[in-house]
Amino acid sequence: MTGTLASSAVPLNSLASVRVVPGRVLGAAAPDLDSHVARNGVLPYDLGTGPLVAEVEAAGLTGRGGAAFPTWRKLLAAAQGQRTVVIANAAESEPASAKDATLLASAPHLVLDGLQLAAAAINAQEAYLYAKDGPALVLAQRALAERQARGVDRTRVRVVVAPQQFVAGEETAVLAGIEGRDALPRDKARLVVEFGLRGRPTLVHNAETLAQLALIARHGARWFRGVGTAGEPGTFLATASAPGAGPVVVEVPYGTPLGELLGLAGLAGPVGAVLVGGYHGGWVPANPGLSLPVSRAALAAWDAAPGAGVVFALPPTACGLDAAARILAYLAEQNARQCAPCFTGLPRLASVAASLAAAGHPGNPGRLAPAGQRVLALPDPALPGELSRLSALVSGRGACHHPDGSVRMLRTALGTFAGDVQAHLDGYCLAGRRH
Ligand SMILES: Cc1cc2nc3c(=O)[nH]c(=O)nc-3n(C[C@H](O)[C@H](O)[C@H](O)COP(=O)(O)O)c2cc1C
Ligand code: SF4
Repeated sequence: MTGTLASSAVPLNSLASVRVVPGRVLGAAAPDLDSHVARNGVLPYDLGTGPLVAEVEAAGLTGRGGAAFPTWRKLLAAAQGQRTVVIANAAESEPASAKDATLLASAPHLVLDGLQLAAAAINAQEAYLYAKDGPALVLAQRALAERQARGVDRTRVRVVVAPQQFVAGEETAVLAGIEGRDALPRDKARLVVEFGLRGRPTLVHNAETLAQLALIARHGARWFRGVGTAGEPGTFLATASAPGAGPVVVEVPYGTPLGELLGLAGLAGPVGAVLVGGYHGGWVPANPGLSLPVSRAALAAWDAAPGAGVVFALPPTACGLDAAARILAYLAEQNARQCAPCFTGLPRLASVAASLAAAGHPGNPGRLAPAGQRVLALPDPALPGELSRLSALVSGRGACHHPDGSVRMLRTALGTFAGDVQAHLDGYCLAGRRH
């Protein structure tokens, strides 16, 4: 599986090879403050909390960090608190995502404008940029220094480097990382927006959400709603890839057909299935998947969602079961060893999935059938049932969404690749035969 998601987990989101198809947010790219202001206008600092929240509500902006929570609700809740904190989350801990680093590198001032607007709206005393190390962070730090020298920002922004672990971008892990502890999630008995960084009400927003906020403040809700669907307005940044191809960051309106998105990204090769929403996302078969609009409403029937915009196209010649098992192995390895379902459940699930995937593959010693055809050693027919049993045991029982997201990826793989599961149980892999 050369170049697929799990086998190239970390290299995929390095910036060097990212190709970009711009839209509104990426179309607002500017390398320095002067060109940013010339292109996008000055930061409308003095909108006031009420009008800004109302505009964001009218726009229908939702979080671009994965959960698609309405941004105005978080802004309003944080604005009720005292001594508040705001954090731009550019950890981009999803291995197949490159959109936040791309955004930060190409439009750093737009993200920083959004951070300042959010800080002003909730009267924040502290602001942070939490981002993974790399060229994008260097460019963002340069932009911050430029703003500081010109006295543009009202709230001072501190930079904290996010560790390269899958769970390090989860919002409670973000708090722990900024507090100087291991960046691991904690239980959410109290909402972060009420009890966050060092116990203070904290607003955590994805970097892209803040960039979209900065555009809404400038152009208004009606402009924002000019593209996308009525229920899911605006554009989003997608990171598209395929084995050996991409990542390509594409900006498209919600509702764009999945096949069109892949076409814009230049991934026009034959597709067997698509993983939508990243490692915690859902697998959809190419038919009807490629004609499905990328929106929560349209993908819900497939137990998938746009999430943070990761789209991975698997060719028909690859084994989906193998791809899912490799991703699950990565997710199991990335558990934070705090909750039993995650610590013991995910590795067990990953091992059963690996056995099922391996059963159809050449490494399996196999035996010869009467017709001379090689039949591989048959796996235990109870393996799919064991996967269902273990999935039910870990679901909903972690302190964070990691086990649930991992189980969703597996569950959708078992549905989309049901034919492959049966073939593997019979000692074959269909992948090589689908030319
Ligand atoms: C395991 C896990 C990893 C996450 N990683 C990220 C991340 O890298 N970046 C991010 O913005 N949100 C990430 N999130 C979502 C955050 O917890 C949080 O919902 C988000 O930063 C809120 O911003 P938004 O409202 O703008 O989407 C992750 C969530 C989970 C469960
Ligand atoms: S569910 Fe897993 S990743 Fe989440 S807090 Fe528990 S051990 Fe950590």
